[in-house]
Amino acid sequence: MSTEKVDTKMHWHILGAGSIGLLWAAKLSLVGYRVTLILRNQDKLEQLLREPTIRRGGEHFPVNAELPGSASIISNLLITTKAYDVESAFESVKIRFSPNTKVLLLHNGLGPQQRLLELHPELELWAGSTTDGAYRMSDFHVVQAGEGEIWIGSLSCSQQDSLYQYLKCLPALHHQPLIIPRLWQKLAINCAINPLTAIYNCKNGEVLSNSECFRQMRLVCEEVEQVAMAQKIPLFETPLINKVIEVATVTATNYSSMQQDVVHQRQTEIEFINGFLCEQARQQGIATPANDAMLDQIRQVSLISDQ
Ligand SMILES: NC(=O)c1ccc[n+]([C@@H]2O[C@H](COP(=O)([O-])OP(=O)(O)OC[C@H]3O[C@@H](n4cnc5c(N)ncnc54)[C@H](OP(=O)(O)O)[C@@H]3O)[C@@H](O)[C@H]2O)c1
Repeated sequence: MSTEKVDTKMHWHILGAGSIGLLWAAKLSLVGYRVTLILRNQDKLEQLLREPTIRRGGEHFPVNAELPGSASIISNLLITTKAYDVESAFESVKIRFSPNTKVLLLHNGLGPQQRLLELHPELELWAGSTTDGAYRMSDFHVVQAGEGEIWIGSLSCSQQDSLYQYLKCLPALHHQPLIIPRLWQKLAINCAINPLTAIYNCKNGEVLSNSECFRQMRLVCEEVEQVAMAQKIPLFETPLINKVIEVATVTATNYSSMQQDVVHQRQTEIEFINGFLCEQARQQGIATPANDAMLDQIRQVSLISDQ
């Protein structure tokens, strides 16, 4: 663990007590910060208050918990919901912000970051990307499947590093002043791997061995590169397809979150991954038939599972 001194009076609220939210509750508690989970409803709150601890693997961490409508001021807010819940979760607590509140968004995909920045230019808004892997054993019990890295950067002003100063005591956390290109890099890889693993119902590595699947992946990559280039977003030093092959190889035995969401008939984050890409392309007048096809097919699968 880092030997950085932490301000033990610092209080973090976490909105989105799922896998990543619980993982961060443990990380922040371990370095000495006070943590309060903001839970969706009274049932969840009562459940946690019966034994106010969360578990990460075999370790227990005491936490506070409250509802979004609680009266206390929020100074530091970490939002770890799925991309499709970010804006409504944010709305449910924004009345509790002070002029100095800092908000860190940590979710896959793009869209909510830009919309919240547009709607709240006065807010100190940060975004992050993580390669941590985690899943929940039960409601307040998380298992860390893989220790990854975290990059955070300010959306409001790229020179600012105040939040990073508070968080740099966390292991494997990096300051990324240009956070948008970093989020695009993850988006680019997700556009190519996630929908295909869901459509072909396979592990990450298997998308490389199926020739039709690989052909589609190559087309998706070419379109993503075109859209990123039109927006002057640098992706990787090598062609995107090479990076995607590298990631699919390293994570060959993993199932992507989208594959899992489709199998378990949960809402996917497709609208914030290929959906975001297609919308950006439309605004630039760029055709993206391969990404449109990914979007349509995942929407279809989701519709079937809703019936
Ligand atoms: N898990 C991973 O390994 C991993 C790795 C890298 C990135 N990510 C990304 O991180 C984000 C979070 O993923 P996750 O796996 O942690 O998801 P998750 O386990 O589904 O957790 C999301 C949590 O947010 C809660 N929530 C949603 N709306 C809320 C609201 N309005 N008020 C209070 N709570 C609310 C959900 O509550 P309910 O359960 O009541 O719906 C759920 O507990 C996603 O974008 C994901 O793609 C995940």
